[in-house]
Amino acid sequence: MKDYLVKDNWKIIEDQYHAEFNQISESIFSIGNGQMGQRANFEETFTGETLQGNYIGGVYYPDKTRVGWWKNGYPEYFAKVPNACDWIGIRILLDQEEVNLHLSDIKSFYRELDMKRGLLTRKVEFITPKGRHLSLESQRFCSMADDELGVIRYKVTSHNYSGGLALVSFLDFDVKNSDANYDEKFWDEDHQVANDDAMYVIAKTRKTNFLCAASMDHSLTITGGKSDFYFDYGNGEKYVEVFISGEIVPDGEWSYCKYVNISSSRNHTNEDLQINALSKSKAAKAQGFDALLKDHIDAWANIWNTADIVIKDDVAAQQGIRFNIFQLYQTYTGKDSRLNIGPKGFTGEKYGGSTYWDTEAYCLPFYLSTTDASVARNLLIYRHNQLDRAIENAEKLGFNNGAALYPMVTMNGEECHNEWEITFEEIHRNGAIAYAIYDYIKYTGDKKYLASHGAEVLVAIARFWAHRVNFSEEKQQYVMLGVTGPNEYENNVNNNWYTNYIASWCLEYAAESMAYIKDTHAEDYARIISLIDFSDEELKKWDDIRNNIYLPSDKNKGIYLQQDGFLDKEIIPVADLAPADRPINQKWSWDRILRSCYIKQADVLQGIYFFEDRFDLEDIRRNYVYYEPLTVHESSLSPCVHSILATKLGMDDKAYEMYLRTSRLDLDDYNNDTEDGCHITSMAGTWLAIVRGFAGMSVEGETLSFAPRLPQQWTEVSFKTNFRGQLIEFIMNTNGNEIKNLSNSPIKVLLNNKEVSIDPMKASVE
Ligand code: BGC
Repeated sequence: MKDYLVKDNWKIIEDQYHAEFNQISESIFSIGNGQMGQRANFEETFTGETLQGNYIGGVYYPDKTRVGWWKNGYPEYFAKVPNACDWIGIRILLDQEEVNLHLSDIKSFYRELDMKRGLLTRKVEFITPKGRHLSLESQRFCSMADDELGVIRYKVTSHNYSGGLALVSFLDFDVKNSDANYDEKFWDEDHQVANDDAMYVIAKTRKTNFLCAASMDHSLTITGGKSDFYFDYGNGEKYVEVFISGEIVPDGEWSYCKYVNISSSRNHTNEDLQINALSKSKAAKAQGFDALLKDHIDAWANIWNTADIVIKDDVAAQQGIRFNIFQLYQTYTGKDSRLNIGPKGFTGEKYGGSTYWDTEAYCLPFYLSTTDASVARNLLIYRHNQLDRAIENAEKLGFNNGAALYPMVTMNGEECHNEWEITFEEIHRNGAIAYAIYDYIKYTGDKKYLASHGAEVLVAIARFWAHRVNFSEEKQQYVMLGVTGPNEYENNVNNNWYTNYIASWCLEYAAESMAYIKDTHAEDYARIISLIDFSDEELKKWDDIRNNIYLPSDKNKGIYLQQDGFLDKEIIPVADLAPADRPINQKWSWDRILRSCYIKQADVLQGIYFFEDRFDLEDIRRNYVYYEPLTVHESSLSPCVHSILATKLGMDDKAYEMYLRTSRLDLDDYNNDTEDGCHITSMAGTWLAIVRGFAGMSVEGETLSFAPRLPQQWTEVSFKTNFRGQLIEFIMNTNGNEIKNLSNSPIKVLLNNKEVSIDPMKASVE
């Protein structure tokens, strides 16, 4: 755990230079706008520890995989979001010396990420090895108002130096991914131009042929000393620069603005790309830094207006939740259904920027509540658009009849993962994709989605499960062999309770959905059955499976068994593990982990969390009390589920302990891995822990319901939620609860199971 950042309600602040934490800060202070993202690398040359990172949403490179033992059915490639154009670069050249903070004596350092305004600021005062005393101030943002635009204002001030100064401002596509499997570069040259009229680079991803353009315009103002300066242009492979030279005097300042458009052939034709980039960077310059910043801040204000959670009198908690909300919106804004939410977003290379089940299981509810329903719908459409690939994927593994297995990891619908125990066995992901459709419809009431898109996905997923189970003569029940549940510290197990349960639920939900469409949307029903060759025979088979599926349990303990044979393990609670043994994934052999009773993340409890209404409180308690002490929470997705269930069980201390673990995971570098990037998808879990946990928000029938339990550590929490076209604010504090209807039609909600009616623009106080 680290504690080097200043606590503030709206800002993340590093008020001293921490060379040893620089890569952690580069992740935490990242900026993005859903389309592009940039780690908090320094603009000027820096030879200390750094991971340079700029990413463009949806642009990927199919890196050839590395595996020890090739298995049939493995994908040929692992998609990676390539490190893209270094657009921030500004070198500072003094007479006979280049500024490099790593070699300088840093007198003061201040880095701030203003989350309200989406603005990254850095101020440094330093003395170079040749004794030049200077200050730098940089401000930059990836515009939320124009998602192809990055803007920097960069000031250099001299305190004692008088002499030549040159800024070399560049765009460089000749970059590498640190996680490239074969140390290759992912970009090929297309062409570049650098002159008075135009400065741009166009590069192409190898194999996938995405063309990306980075174009810049700029301005410079000099105060103090001679104000004239000279431009010189240069270019190289995938690289352009402008060399701006002049002089600086003590107390003189150079203020330089850089306006960069980054666009790709995903959004423009190859022919238009160059014109678009060029004209937009020029237009940005014409608008100027302050006007662009204002548009950007307005766009953020719009997001914060509904997405913010306010926690009173607890700055660490307030900063934590805002950081999570901020990073989620920097990663995904929901404008483009071809984009999704990588577990590290735009903050690092790990997980390749690809889509995981995290989106459906964790992120969807966040977007359902904090913005317009079209955003969550786009997340569903993403999977709908990839249905054919999921069917192909299942076919490769020997399934037929339109069965679909969605990939564990994907960029375009194709599976990218190749560890057999996950690729072939961690099939529960299919369940989360069906569950998201259910979650979306339950929350929005948009049942039409079932008929227009959802049913096709549900049927294909149900078909997969129907093939994947087999009938055990011995048990006289359907079983599912050789799977990996959400707990990846067990592989190739039989009858993982979670997987069997969600499979059976998928069969039920798909059948119910088809019956509903048949009754209510005759035309759609006819279209669907002609498309997928669906029959009543198939329904009967699904019924038989779900009524006779084997769900392992232990009657004496009154618990569901994570998988067959779980009780044969030596059961030693995590609390009895020596600290030196943790985290076990770094300290133990894989074999030892697999044989142990330790659970990486919620597994049985993940199922109970999804289907909470189907279990009584005592059932939930017995399973929680049994499994939580065996859980090491070595996936960031784990603590939030535990926090929510603990709240439900009235285990307030546990709920709060688990909440803290999720909310400041990256800010405090809890898992020692923030330098690789932030845990974006689990940030939605922090939001869930407050809204679905502490506030107990759910949908009962067609009504929004709250069952609040304010943590005793807090005095007040409030948030807004969009529900079926209405905006509601929920406030819980030590005096009670208040629900405000911020829309112009009346609303009924449930508060602790009691119906409350609230007129437009009125509140109900309890
Ligand atoms: C977790 C998975 C998750 C992935 C990406 C893994 O550590 O076990 O459940 O999908 O990380 O977040």
